[in-house]
Amino acid sequence: MAGTDIGLDKTLAALGVTEAAQIGARFEQVFASFDGQLQAIHDESAWKLFRDAWLGRKSGVLTQITDNWLKPATPELKRVVGQKLNELRAHVESQIEARRAAIESGAEEAALAKERVDLSLPGVIRPIGSHHLIRRVFQEIEDIFVSIGFSVVEGPEIETPYYNFEALNIPEFHPVRDDMDTFYIELPKGAPTPLLLRTHTSPMQIRTMEKQKPPVRVIVPGKVYRRDNPDATHSFMFHQVEGLAVDTDITFCDFTGTIEYFVKQFFGPSVKTRFRPSYFPFTEPSVEFDVSCPFCGGTGASNGATCSKCKGAAWIELFGAGMVDPAVYGFVNYDAKKVSGFAFGIGIDRLAMLKYGIDDIQVFFQNDVRFLKQFP
Ligand code: FA5
Repeated sequence: MAGTDIGLDKTLAALGVTEAAQIGARFEQVFASFDGQLQAIHDESAWKLFRDAWLGRKSGVLTQITDNWLKPATPELKRVVGQKLNELRAHVESQIEARRAAIESGAEEAALAKERVDLSLPGVIRPIGSHHLIRRVFQEIEDIFVSIGFSVVEGPEIETPYYNFEALNIPEFHPVRDDMDTFYIELPKGAPTPLLLRTHTSPMQIRTMEKQKPPVRVIVPGKVYRRDNPDATHSFMFHQVEGLAVDTDITFCDFTGTIEYFVKQFFGPSVKTRFRPSYFPFTEPSVEFDVSCPFCGGTGASNGATCSKCKGAAWIELFGAGMVDPAVYGFVNYDAKKVSGFAFGIGIDRLAMLKYGIDDIQVFFQNDVRFLKQFP
């Protein structure tokens, strides 16, 4: 590298240097060569090669000068060569060290610049989730009932047949169980009672009345399970909100007034309501509650065609309800002669489908973000 052109591989005699006065010029060439090469050294690996080329013990420039110029020099020249060589060594060593420091601090600066946080850059925007539509409808219902004095309670999804059926006046061989028979839990032999996934939120009527004396005004949101085959309006897991109000003077009028208030708050004031006779073992009388179809304004027709939502009936069935059957009070030690009340059980998934125009219950459980994103 440095130096065959400046004659480092030859003795001074071979280079024709015979007088002390010629030595200065020779060394100037070496200084110039060093300074020139130094300018091109900008990173650590180039610096290491450069250092070895000049200071390397075996064949570095300074070693070559020592071996080829100094050692074979005549005694008259030796002193001057030695002195110049010392100057050169001091220059080379100090400059190489200075360049090392410069490279190191430059690298540090570059690393710092890389790590520096630019606060003006836009941040990473992570998508924010939102409540599932079912959760939102729960909330809407809770807000309405809480505003008229109901409180919200929750209960177990795994129930005993006693709470799910018997205490609701559905004895073991009652035919209504056929519609509701469900998923039983496999239990070890000798378990004190069978357990099942609750088929409705009505067991919480019993659990609430067992715990609390009248007046009772609760709603119970939660998941329920039935052995139903999935289709556009059926799921084996769905959601209900149970309602129960019991006091000493609750009448059928309180019942209809409360339900109508809820429905008008939920669907809007123009919706009409009606009750139809029905049957539940734990209410007497029992009703099904219908609303005028919110999609066709209760006319049965939409855009000149039969309304696809109510199929032209102008009414849509919403939920089952009724006055609490006095037989139920017997299971919770309430005096059926002194108290009266009403209960209802709203299917939330179908209610949400109605309000938000969804035509397949399955989309609630498929977790497709394209669906979920429509309800931010
Ligand atoms: C009951 O579950 C009664 N416990 C309701 C009740 C409570 C009556 C208190 C009286 C007093 P029913 O089986 O009709 O009733 O179910 C209530 C609602 O749940 C239905 O109107 C419907 O909206 C919903 N539902 C029933 N089965 C399914 C299903 N497989 N998938 C989705 N929703 C369903």
